Amino acid sequence: MTGNVVRDAYAGQAEEYTALLGSMANTHESDQRLIAQWARDLRGTVIDAGCGPGNWTDFLKKHGVDAEGIDQVQAFIGQARKRFPTVPFRVASLGNLGVRDGYAAAILAWYSVIHLAPNDLPAVLREFARCITLGGSLLFGFFEGDAVEPFPHAVTTAYFWPIGEMSTQLEAAGFHVQAVNTRTDPGTRSHAAIIAHRIDGSVPSEVPG
Ligand SMILES: C[S@@+](CC[C@H](N)C(=O)[O-])C[C@H]1O[C@@H](n2cnc3c(N)ncnc32)[C@H](O)[C@@H]1O
Repeated sequence: MTGNVVRDAYAGQAEEYTALLGSMANTHESDQRLIAQWARDLRGTVIDAGCGPGNWTDFLKKHGVDAEGIDQVQAFIGQARKRFPTVPFRVASLGNLGVRDGYAAAILAWYSVIHLAPNDLPAVLREFARCITLGGSLLFGFFEGDAVEPFPHAVTTAYFWPIGEMSTQLEAAGFHVQAVNTRTDPGTRSHAAIIAHRIDGSVPSEVPG
């Protein structure tokens, strides 16, 4: 799945997506609790990577976070700026966030990595690692499955990831997995969220005993 295919698919539905899913009323209470709790201890700039209509960026800002949103879809950025004029939003891609090394205290990537072809995920995680300061935090949400495999998401193809394989990808990119949350509601796909800390790649995450 190339970036352009995903970008064009969202661009064609940005208005409808914003109307249907662009408000916090349409988000799960436990997701709100998780993200609010994660945000509580953050100090510094937090990038909402793949912010879509921007409601989670605004949610972070309302929780005292210096948040900014990026998305590759211009129409989302336009909507987000209109709806949340005090929050900064700009066009950028997950693979190139357009900031200096260590710029961000944390990154939220809420269901934005789900469309990446599995081979493209490592480079995006390395970009997240580059942009997050040492000790900083990454929280991302995705759909959990038994194997890395595609499924027909309503907008465009997305991928299930097993938690173990996603954790391995994170560790390889320079993160230490700190917490994993899962949620399965009747009749819906299984949701997972991982919180990982940016560590120095030269330091092993576990010291052999
Ligand atoms: C399922 S939506 C999630 C939007 C938002 N994070 C939320 O939870 O409401 C996925 C978002 O990721 C963005 N996205 C997907 N791939 C991207 C990429 N390579 N670079 C930047 N944004 C991307 C899409 O444009 C879309 O806004």
